[in-house]
Amino acid sequence: MAKFYITTPIYYINAVPHIGHAYTTIVADVLARWHRLFGDDVFFLTGLDENSIKTVEAAREQGFKDIQAYADSMAKAWVGAWKLLDISYDDFIRTTQERHKRNVHELFNRIKERGDIYKGEYEGLYCEGCEAYIAEGDLVDGKCPLHQKKPKLIKEKNYFFKLSKYRNQILKHIQSNPQFIQPETRKNEVLSFLKSGLKDISVSRPELEWGIKVPGDPKQTIWVWLDALVNYMLPRDYWPADAHIIAKDIIRFHCVVWPGMLLSAGFELPRQIFAHGFLTVEGQKISKSLGNVIDPSYLIEKYSADVIRYFVIREVSFGQDGNFSEESLRTRLNDELADVFGNFVHRVLTFIRDRFEGTVPNGKVDKKLEAEVSERIGQVEKLLEGLKVTQALDEIMVIAGRGNEYFQSHKPWKTIKSDPQKAADCLLNCTNLVKVLCVALSPFMPSTCGKLAKQLNVEVGSWKRAKKFDIRSGHKIGKPSVLFTKVRTDNPSKPLKPRASIKDFEKLDIRIGRVTKAEKIPGSKKLLKLELELAGERRTIVAGIAEHYPSEELIGKQVAIVTNLEPVKLMGVKSEGMLLAAEDEGKISILTADKPVKPGAKVK
Ligand code: MSP
Repeated sequence: MAKFYITTPIYYINAVPHIGHAYTTIVADVLARWHRLFGDDVFFLTGLDENSIKTVEAAREQGFKDIQAYADSMAKAWVGAWKLLDISYDDFIRTTQERHKRNVHELFNRIKERGDIYKGEYEGLYCEGCEAYIAEGDLVDGKCPLHQKKPKLIKEKNYFFKLSKYRNQILKHIQSNPQFIQPETRKNEVLSFLKSGLKDISVSRPELEWGIKVPGDPKQTIWVWLDALVNYMLPRDYWPADAHIIAKDIIRFHCVVWPGMLLSAGFELPRQIFAHGFLTVEGQKISKSLGNVIDPSYLIEKYSADVIRYFVIREVSFGQDGNFSEESLRTRLNDELADVFGNFVHRVLTFIRDRFEGTVPNGKVDKKLEAEVSERIGQVEKLLEGLKVTQALDEIMVIAGRGNEYFQSHKPWKTIKSDPQKAADCLLNCTNLVKVLCVALSPFMPSTCGKLAKQLNVEVGSWKRAKKFDIRSGHKIGKPSVLFTKVRTDNPSKPLKPRASIKDFEKLDIRIGRVTKAEKIPGSKKLLKLELELAGERRTIVAGIAEHYPSEELIGKQVAIVTNLEPVKLMGVKSEGMLLAAEDEGKISILTADKPVKPGAKVK
């Protein structure tokens, strides 16, 4: 039984997880689940990096006096999110745990015993976003380009690690182990960084109130990255890690600092570091200030964990940057999961239920089809071994398409009358195809495939089952039910739109108007005719709020109106403006001014 130890980065706890963190964790989970299915001895580790300055700042911002209490509350949020996403980690490490502190001290001492730690003085710029020193030349407009923050000038006495001593060894290791850093572009990035020289690094900071202290020198706190990287040594029996999954933002720490630490401490290096790309949301960088941080739990509630898992892996070619858009998610849900995979499964299972009394009919295995599928599954296996999750999923979806096509072209609904044996053959083969999909997709969509396994009345069992048509005639299936429901694309909760310029905004003339009259428009359930007082003029507008507000309640309200849109006629009444209102799951709430203002006051 081969060992497979996989990790995600341990995430900072200054915020709750967003879709970017979820992405890394989903990929690692798919790989862990696949290796388990394949029969490997898997260990999957994720967790939290709690000893950062960011933790202290966030705790203060949120009014926590006790930083540990803040960390505990955040840990609950992260664990909760991963539960909703069906993340099957084997252990969840928090760097404030004693077991972790022990490991950090052990590693620090080993490096020290090796003679690789020395006292020095450092003067330089420190970016608290990166939790690392930053070179002047890497700044853009005086700020860290990643965090848009001005770094702090720091001059302090601290401990140094002789990283430069390991430069050649690390270089050689990367060159002679082509799999060590993947994809290629990232490897080349690291190589050119190393070739430009490597300096020793400061690995402690004085006078920090939070973090792990240097053994024997409690005035010094261990640099949070050195602390964090050691998390990977938690399951010692599984070391070296087979795959560290990270994104491109943290390659230097993983591909240079971490190997240096391990070489010094006398541990083996990880087998592979895979740095994937960055996700944007609706085309924009994920950032608090842009307000586009998507909380995965909102998406899960709306679409289910499996749809999110499927979408991110299929949409973002693993290794490259990609975009998360709800519109594309709905398209893939509707066109691929519902129309192809779900449709095929449902047609096959309901056919067996309705025409063969729920029992797989006595048919002949289509050997050609079985061989074709088995070969494709072999491909999937190779792709997953090489961490190529997107391509693997693409191949599996080809099988789903093939299934649909097979059912369609064999027309069992016709042959059941003209040549029942043909229909029986078709259904035996299609049931097996459904089972192949159920096994192969289970690492990607564990909950859906669990349900499907029940409908098929089979155990997902092992990966081998994806290669064989082993469901025989006479097998009783369970109760079919729909796996995916389509979501209409004109869903009321629209994703955020791309940025508009202030000029675009200024084209609109939005004013506060006072409602002087409100009445229902005869013949319409929804429309109200409102008369408004604006800057020295009166306007009539039509608004679709009759079901949400009784007319009399609106009189005197100071409502927000877009005044310069082209007038439109609704049910014979000319509307000379648009009332602004918020819509939430079909409920309407009109926008009003918070304090009394003159009719016609501008909204800007
Ligand atoms: N605490 C460090 C990691 C220490 S590991 C020893 C850290 N934490 S983090 O919370 O900032 O997480 C960074 C990681 O989160 C990225 O490497 C990536 O895995 C994931 N992502 C964060 N934003 C992301 C995107 N926008 N897109 C894809 N992945 C993203 O760095």
